[in-house]
Amino acid sequence: MALPPARIASGAARILSGLLESRTGQVLSEGRAWRMETALKPVLRDHGFKDIDELAGKLVRSRDPRLDEDVVNALLNNESSFFRDLQMFDMIHRQILPRIQAERDDRTLRIWSAGCSTGQEAYSLAIRLSNDLARWSGWRIEILATDISTSAIDQAKTGIFTQMDVQRGLPIGDLIKWFEPAGDDWRASPDLRRMIDFRQDNLFDSHVPHGQYDLLLCRNVLLYFSPERRQEVFNLLARHSHERSILMLGAGETVIGQSEDFMPHPEFRGSYARKGTMPVGAGGPMRRTG
Ligand SMILES: C[S@@+](CC[C@H](N)C(=O)[O-])C[C@H]1O[C@@H](n2cnc3c(N)ncnc32)[C@H](O)[C@@H]1O
Repeated sequence: MALPPARIASGAARILSGLLESRTGQVLSEGRAWRMETALKPVLRDHGFKDIDELAGKLVRSRDPRLDEDVVNALLNNESSFFRDLQMFDMIHRQILPRIQAERDDRTLRIWSAGCSTGQEAYSLAIRLSNDLARWSGWRIEILATDISTSAIDQAKTGIFTQMDVQRGLPIGDLIKWFEPAGDDWRASPDLRRMIDFRQDNLFDSHVPHGQYDLLLCRNVLLYFSPERRQEVFNLLARHSHERSILMLGAGETVIGQSEDFMPHPEFRGSYARKGTMPVGAGGPMRRTG
């Protein structure tokens, strides 16, 4: 499943997928390997290579950090959309955030979107919180959003989305309320952009997250990691969570059999809680260090 197809299993494709895996942990699935040539077209054009064989030759012969970065950015799957898995966002809004709000005694809400791509996930959270701002009056809200892709993070920071992007999941009311036209595109309002701290960061060499987060999202990121890599990510997420933190993964991802630290959440279906912690809803202030 994770091997490049036979036609391009050797040579250039192997070098390129090797670079991607060593930098990001992502193993190219068959479907993505087939699309490798298309994905790399802009890189070939920008760097003046006639085909991927010439590009791979250059990668082997000499180190060019800029070229490496462009190749990795091009091969990463940055697929995302606003309110992806709407039910999950509804659960966050209706059940999880009110629970956190009831339990946090320091009136600080900390959220980490790990593998945030071009930012739709973090903006979706910011929109839901902003639509309910009166409820969060007096609260400090921190949303950290990280991704290894420099191009995805640069795009996320601008807050600019195409018409096609906003048509994928963003309710028209939120588009009108929180975005302004920017030529043919739409730009998130300054208020929305100010709520999110977008940073480039590699989950396997992570420097950006600080302390513990109440809600952690690492969705549709783990699918193409090896089991060992996945475990490393769960260890990282565990280090940045506290006893009542809630973890959300993508629909095709799970902690079951893969993490010593997390278990399916007893109450919030499809999300995960820390193992061996107080029963949820047991009351009392949450402890968070750092
Ligand atoms: C398919 S997107 C998911 C985006 C968003 N979480 C969602 O569900 O819509 C996966 C993201 O994970 C990022 N990613 C892959 N490997 C990573 C790593 N080692 N560290 C940080 N981010 C990584 C990719 O750059 C990509 O933007």
